[in-house]
Amino acid sequence: MPRIAYVNGRYVAHREAAVHVEDRGLQFADAVYEVCEVRGGRLIDEHRHMARLDRSLGELRIRPPMTSAALGVVLREVVRRNRVIEGIVYLQVTRGVAPRDHGFPAAAVRPGVIVTARAMPLAPRDARAKRGVSVITVADNRWQRVDIKTTGLLPNVLAKEKARAASAFEAWFVDEDGYVTEGTSTNAWIVTTDGAVVTAPTDRGILSGITRAVLLDVLRRRDLRLEERRFALAEARGAREAFLTSATTAVTPIVRIDGRAVADGRPGRVASELRQALREAAEVAPAWSGPRNPGRSDI
Ligand code: PDD
Repeated sequence: MPRIAYVNGRYVAHREAAVHVEDRGLQFADAVYEVCEVRGGRLIDEHRHMARLDRSLGELRIRPPMTSAALGVVLREVVRRNRVIEGIVYLQVTRGVAPRDHGFPAAAVRPGVIVTARAMPLAPRDARAKRGVSVITVADNRWQRVDIKTTGLLPNVLAKEKARAASAFEAWFVDEDGYVTEGTSTNAWIVTTDGAVVTAPTDRGILSGITRAVLLDVLRRRDLRLEERRFALAEARGAREAFLTSATTAVTPIVRIDGRAVADGRPGRVASELRQALREAAEVAPAWSGPRNPGRSDI
């Protein structure tokens, strides 16, 4: 399988793909990113991912490197060159290269763009969802702007590692007041004992997940009670179901929280149904659009 990355205007062999030592993404995590699912070789929910990227760039005052349409062409080209049918495409935009100095560099500095793609077959992810996953909980020690999808993910990395050490799939962050905010790379949901589907609002403490947004649309169209409100860890422990969402996990049922079974310890009916409904609701982009590919090829 070829592995090809796009770095700053060029398609290059993955093993040779590199950025400058003074790229601010490397020096300061002064960069934002998106992870988009690829299914049938097509981008899933591209427009929402691009809209969130724009927002992240705007919040950090990083200049958009190119139009969303041009970025879309690059994403497709990387997917195509890597022959990814089921997997993900990763996009990172950094503030660019400048001598190390905390303040912003001159406005003329060009933003950096990195795109990679990776196969990630659906079958094992579906099998995992059928079994359900475990989560542990950790104190939410992140900065207050987790609404911006930056590459500054060290608290998330450490929490995920703690989950792995405990043979869990994910760690849920719990804030000072005992409320579950989100996972290290997923949004958090419960189904209450009286059947309401609950997830935290996006006004503080969480990333506005694209999968979350698509699922909210699904829920609004269905006869299910939806509550966008904070929920405490204690409520989650007593919930009828729990599940998580992200571009890579879709809806994945949670069967254990901190080692204790959620309800009967089996994936819940609502979560399992929503996994299917989500798949049908996703926006599937055309395989190709745009007349020209805005990059040069070294290979
Ligand atoms: N993570 N919360 C956090 C902190 C995330 O990093 C992510 C995405 C989500 C879910 O967002 P979405 O539905 O748009 O994937 C929630 C990606 C997948 C990652 O970092 O790999």
